[in-house]
Amino acid sequence: MTTTALLALDEIQRIEQEHQLPLYAKREISLVRGEGPYLFDSEGRRYLDAMSNYGVAVLGHADPEFAAALTDQLNTLATGHQSFYSDVRAALLVEIAKIAPEGLSRAFLSNSGAESIEAALKFARAATGKPNIVAARRAYHGRTLGALSATADPKYRTPFEPLPLPVTHVPFNDITALEAVVDGETAAVIIEPIQGEAGIYPADDAYLQAARDLTTRHRAMLIADEVQTAFRSGVPFAITRSGVTPDILATAKALANGFPIGLTLVTDAVSGAMPSGAHGTTFGGSPLACRAALTTLTALHERNLYARSEELGAQIINRIEALNSPKVRQVRGRGLMIGIELKERVTPTLRGLQEHGVLALPAGNLALRLLPPLIWQEEQVDELISALSMVLGGDESSG
Ligand SMILES: Cc1ncc(COP(=O)(O)O)c(C=O)c1O
Repeated sequence: MTTTALLALDEIQRIEQEHQLPLYAKREISLVRGEGPYLFDSEGRRYLDAMSNYGVAVLGHADPEFAAALTDQLNTLATGHQSFYSDVRAALLVEIAKIAPEGLSRAFLSNSGAESIEAALKFARAATGKPNIVAARRAYHGRTLGALSATADPKYRTPFEPLPLPVTHVPFNDITALEAVVDGETAAVIIEPIQGEAGIYPADDAYLQAARDLTTRHRAMLIADEVQTAFRSGVPFAITRSGVTPDILATAKALANGFPIGLTLVTDAVSGAMPSGAHGTTFGGSPLACRAALTTLTALHERNLYARSEELGAQIINRIEALNSPKVRQVRGRGLMIGIELKERVTPTLRGLQEHGVLALPAGNLALRLLPPLIWQEEQVDELISALSMVLGGDESSG
């Protein structure tokens, strides 16, 4: 298929620069088409997608089964409020129940990661009747005012202060620091099982277990933010690897392969504390969103993409380590959520990769983040390693 952009590149750039708020540091290319693991720009140049729109497009781009299911749903019923029952929503809830951590039997459907976190924080307050939240340093939980209160980076917070929720940020993976702040006034401790934006830092099992024990002891909620970690660490939900079950789990991104969605899972006890009508959303749980999520979850299971992510992720980490690049300090991650911490700022490496036809992400200032579609094959891993070796200056054969 050839690539035909609606407008010329300089026209696209001019219009976006003139009409959008200047909030995003734009890369200079315009993406106009995707096919499986690849993206194409307006000039017809092909890129290996190692970012899947910040972890969203798990089935890659223009997946025929996904496109057919959404087209069918568009031709049947796209929008509908949750005050009516829906066949597609019910079918999705059955699939969610199959993968939900034990005891998280109730689902709230919304439209984004921040919304799924916002709901989690509200539910924690309603369920405990307590005000305070404990989050980790470097945590990223989204940009709505509640979620932003839990997000740590001053770059996101400062323009909007004072923020509405009282949140204490403590060092990540530090049990003593957590013990020092969780008390009888704590409504929730919120944790990313693998910190994403911060630089791909996995939480230790002992840390998650300590958070579980402390929250239980103080009758507070443990919230797992799986907006970025879900579906790509080799299992549906990364926290389950530690044997810890949260009271509330929020996810979004990959769940509907690019259709906007948010999901907050809670226990029966939390659900029972929510008064009818106390929370809601117009778009959330629409037949179209539910069909997108249903198709994605079915594909992840039927195509064996959980196990495959784990296998490919291990392969990628080994091969990056084998490059022995003088620029790499450490490679971290699980499944297809990988961080390469550099000894220098990451921006030139990202630019270099783009020039070599690979789109990747930063995480913090020093880490290169890989969140590829889960449909990658060995061929895509080879392409990635070859581009990385050119940009980072290592060589597999020297390892
Ligand atoms: C861990 C985590 N939580 C919450 C969010 C917010 O999600 P969204 O951008 O869909 O609002 C993100 C987004 O990157 C995230 O990585």
